[in-house]
Amino acid sequence: MTIHAHGGFLVNLYQPDIDVSSITKQVELDATALSDLELIGTGAYSPLQGFLTQKDYESVVHNMRLANGTVWSLPVTLPINEETAASLSIGDSVLLQSEGTIYGVLNLSDIYRPDQSVEAQEVYQTTELAHPGVKKMFDRGSVYLGGPITLVRRIERKEFSAFYFDPAETRQIFEQKGWKTIVGFQTRNPVHRAHEYIQKSALEIVDGLLLNPLVGETKSDDIPADVRMESYQVLLKEYYPEDRVKLAVFPAAMRYAGPREAIFHALVRKNYGCTHFIVGRDHAGVGSYYGTYDAQKIFSQFSKEEIGLTLLFFEHSFYCEKCGSMASSKTCPHDKEHHVILSGTKVREMLRNGEIPPSTFSRKEVIEVLIRGLKAKETVQ
Ligand code: ADX
Repeated sequence: MTIHAHGGFLVNLYQPDIDVSSITKQVELDATALSDLELIGTGAYSPLQGFLTQKDYESVVHNMRLANGTVWSLPVTLPINEETAASLSIGDSVLLQSEGTIYGVLNLSDIYRPDQSVEAQEVYQTTELAHPGVKKMFDRGSVYLGGPITLVRRIERKEFSAFYFDPAETRQIFEQKGWKTIVGFQTRNPVHRAHEYIQKSALEIVDGLLLNPLVGETKSDDIPADVRMESYQVLLKEYYPEDRVKLAVFPAAMRYAGPREAIFHALVRKNYGCTHFIVGRDHAGVGSYYGTYDAQKIFSQFSKEEIGLTLLFFEHSFYCEKCGSMASSKTCPHDKEHHVILSGTKVREMLRNGEIPPSTFSRKEVIEVLIRGLKAKETVQ
């Protein structure tokens, strides 16, 4: 039997055949709202059936639960500006569109003006605009629309379209493969040796790995998704058993909300059919806003049944020159001077300068793809 979706059942709100021709009200979606709409519609965000109403929003912001008590850690909102708000009334059907294409319909049940400073503090633990998630929240709009949605059109994928799967599809794939236990891995980075180490440690105890890189909006200095996708494929080909890994993209936007986003990432992967989920060091963090293991500690606020999948927590991992292997403080007795530890920022800087990070940090095949990919982007710009 496959794992239950969060809240009990997998939501499916995709109805391509409904007639929307009589609807006159409309709202333009930004990239984040568009990806959220589709993820709600396909059940990736089960049990959500729409953008949060004020009651659910307040409950999520303050208690990390929907108003009915179900655990939900990130506000999935539809922000607009005052001008658009003036054209809308509660009870309206509203077309949700992007660049002239209609993707969904919102049954508008709520229009509210949240205290976004409170949202920033509660969700991101800071109100500083230097935090990319906070800045984006303030930029997106100050009026929120809530209510159930219908997804009427899927987003056309030009890039790596072979790697998009809905939760119903990944569940089916896992079943076909005969996997009973599946570990989900979230990443917005290339898979370096530390990532590989914790994935493979997990693979020692479960049937399959869902390598599920986030390819929605990320901050501008993160490695672009197309370059990352190429690097994942090279790595899998050379270093992973083909029948134990499934590469599929997660098309959501990155929020950089650290601990809160770790919960969200775990619940969504449960919806995709994962029975286990990896949380390592500073999951979904940015800068020094969160403690190294805050994204693990936060789960202690909930019961196992409420989260519903098994969390695999990993210590900060590194290559130890003296051990001659990957390790963490749990397995390595040696001093820091023997450990190969490079920050993401440092590595990105090296790659952009065409410098090659050590093979103890990242596989050479991965580095080659990254250097070539980033160089190609520079010439295009
Ligand atoms: S994230 O923002 O998508 O979480 P990243 O791609 O860096 O960022 O991390 C993916 C997963 O690997 C997260 O669970 C993170 O905690 C974990 N991770 C990244 N680097 C390490 C490391 N050196 N040691 C242990 N866990 C790590």
